[in-house]
Amino acid sequence: MASTQQDDWWRHGIFYQVYPRSFQDTDGDGVGDLRGIIQRLPYVASLGVDAIWLSPIFTSPMADFGYDVADYTGIDPLFGTMDDFDALLEAAHGLGLKVILDLVPNHSSDAHPWFVESRRSRDDPKRDWYIWRDGAANGAPPNNWLSEFGGSAWEYDETTGQYYYHAFLKEQPDLNWRNPAVREAIYDVMRFWLTKGVDGFRVDVIWHLIKDLDFRDNPPNPHYVEGRPPHEKILTQYSTDQPEVHEVIAEMRDIIDRYGGRVLIGEIYLPLQRLVAYYGNDLRGAQMPFNFALLSTLWSARSVERLIGEYEAALPPGAWPNWVLGNHDRPRVASRVGREQARVAAMLLLTLRGTPTLYYGDELGMVQVPIAPGQVRDPFEKNVPGIGVGRDGCRTPMQWDATEHAGFSTARPWLPLSIDSAHENVVNLDADTRSILSLYRMLIALRKKRTELVLGTYEPIAAQSDLLLFCRRVDDKSITIVLNFGAEPISVTSSSVGFGRKILLSTFLDRDGELIDGALDLRGHEGVIVGADDHAG
Ligand code: GLC
Repeated sequence: MASTQQDDWWRHGIFYQVYPRSFQDTDGDGVGDLRGIIQRLPYVASLGVDAIWLSPIFTSPMADFGYDVADYTGIDPLFGTMDDFDALLEAAHGLGLKVILDLVPNHSSDAHPWFVESRRSRDDPKRDWYIWRDGAANGAPPNNWLSEFGGSAWEYDETTGQYYYHAFLKEQPDLNWRNPAVREAIYDVMRFWLTKGVDGFRVDVIWHLIKDLDFRDNPPNPHYVEGRPPHEKILTQYSTDQPEVHEVIAEMRDIIDRYGGRVLIGEIYLPLQRLVAYYGNDLRGAQMPFNFALLSTLWSARSVERLIGEYEAALPPGAWPNWVLGNHDRPRVASRVGREQARVAAMLLLTLRGTPTLYYGDELGMVQVPIAPGQVRDPFEKNVPGIGVGRDGCRTPMQWDATEHAGFSTARPWLPLSIDSAHENVVNLDADTRSILSLYRMLIALRKKRTELVLGTYEPIAAQSDLLLFCRRVDDKSITIVLNFGAEPISVTSSSVGFGRKILLSTFLDRDGELIDGALDLRGHEGVIVGADDHAG
């Protein structure tokens, strides 16, 4: 199918991730819900983003907060009803927002009827829908594979005397993607939501779907560092990123393409060289294999510059880049790089070549909230306590206003609010024309106005020390981005930023329109966007 301008909205657009438990509660149980999201859609639309991605909202025992699905086409009552979902979809579309759902095909909940049947007997018709193996001769698990959430990835099941495989919790048994019936069942799920009108999927742990046919032992990780999560002690050579996974993704892509204008996003934590394979042969894989490189890189100008270069060079011809700064699994960017650098990070994200995905609350500079031992909800932290793997701190309630519970709920929220929520909230930050929220709004508006920022080439400009410099160009129009990753002021000579041009935006929001005459002086932690006035824009 020939792609059209209309179909390419995801290239030009900006994505915004909503973690439904923490966005807005309307029924007073301290947990966010679909009606809450509907209520806050005008805010999301006002940011100027184009699509929302909702973390799972499906029927689930919530062992992993919805990433353990018990009914792929049902809405969990905690979040609302199918009518609520339909209303959400309609309201979002009415505001010009696309809606992306989280598809969790690698594993279901152990409460899913498929698994309940599968574990019943060795000759149950659903037996082969999951991954069952005999133990080793000594009764030990079938191989050395480890669960990402701690311990062996194999759980012994008394009823049938075999082990089943779970890459995550034992409540999340892995589906057997080598079984065509499993593929069809999940493809039906995709068709169900696509027919309803959802605009695409973010596919959970897509690089996990296919496992080694022979279930060989994984090799030890020679670079394991004490204090890191125990599953990193072995590499995942045989348990993830198998060549046949690309067949599956191409099948998913075929389904998506039959509907037109939909997008397939893959969650993939792999080095850049391997990540780009997920665009697929002839780009028939995921349109957006999530690029998480910014989440783990050392926050310095040189290291970020290097990884942008590596990524740009690794992209297959025609592949569209994308960038992510935060998500529900990783520490908040404002805590990782510091509040001041969070503004520079925002400018980077929204000026790089490629589709940006924002994580709710990052536009407020929300920080990682400390979680006391008694408040821990995340199963990862519960299983592997005390080494800092907990994900609760980046999943705390959205900070809407200065009222009790920050306008998120009338009840005590399921996770504690940040102590700064009385000040760092939407109402306050919107009233402050120099706040990080105002910066996000201005960056998004500028990106919409200037095609260079969306479609322009990425051209690095050599720079020293804490400075990152690059240019985005379309024909004879160009914009230069100048970012100071350090706390010290830096002076940049005008030849590299373009003489006689203007500051279109500073991260401090206090020098727009300033003419560059001679050197461009940046303050510590300042980023600026430089260009000619766009009279056409
Ligand atoms: C993905 C999700 C994460 C979840 C895991 C298991 O990494 O983003 O939240 O715990 O998959 O489903």
